[in-house]
Amino acid sequence: MVKIALDGPAGAGKSTVAKEVAKRLQMTYVDSGAMYRCVTYLAIKRHVTMQDETGLSNLANAMQLMFIPSEHGQVVHLDGVDVTDAIRSSEVGALVPLVAKHARVRECLVEKQREMARTAHSVVMDGRDIGTHVLPDAVVKVYLTATLDVRARRRHEELVRQGFTGSVADVMKLLHERDEIDGRREIAPMRPASDAVVLDTSCLAIHEVTAMVVSLCQARMHNE
Ligand code: DC
Repeated sequence: MVKIALDGPAGAGKSTVAKEVAKRLQMTYVDSGAMYRCVTYLAIKRHVTMQDETGLSNLANAMQLMFIPSEHGQVVHLDGVDVTDAIRSSEVGALVPLVAKHARVRECLVEKQREMARTAHSVVMDGRDIGTHVLPDAVVKVYLTATLDVRARRRHEELVRQGFTGSVADVMKLLHERDEIDGRREIAPMRPASDAVVLDTSCLAIHEVTAMVVSLCQARMHNE
């Protein structure tokens, strides 16, 4: 059983790289950020406030989540409904760091993440605390990063394809706010594990990053 942890801030290329690495190495991909997004999506729908830790952790506990591999990446089913696009809305994006701050929500989701890693044959999991907290025994830990400017431009391109009409500066402000909350929270803040390989992707194409991570995984798996 092989566990690969891929952490880093939004826009560093984590999920694209993680999906491709999982495909090439025939592993299960777990998008842990999608789990925090699902709790946020449910909270908005059910009028649970972002301060209500008990209400939010009840939602996290009760939700039934499935990641289904598809031709275009991965489909997320929440309580039997396809929420793949809905959890990427700007409303969910703006509120999710407030949900991810709560200890009881994190405990519940971390337990689900570890369970997914246990049941999968081999797993690539991306997030913010996978190498430091969720899978501290991962055989490969990579922390992808890039300058705020580059990350904002990448995320802006993605959002424009989905109909977003705001500016790069708007996206930069949002990413900066999220980085601050995710990096400064008390529980499992976003940071590289002491044994992670830190890769700055600012000047790299996504296929170059993927190739680097795949070779790193192959080298480590070979030495296991
Ligand atoms: O990777 P993403 O943008 O989908 O993450 C959504 C939010 O969830 C983001 O604010 C960070 C948080 N998150 C976290 O705290 N821990 C994780 N393992 C994954 C995501």
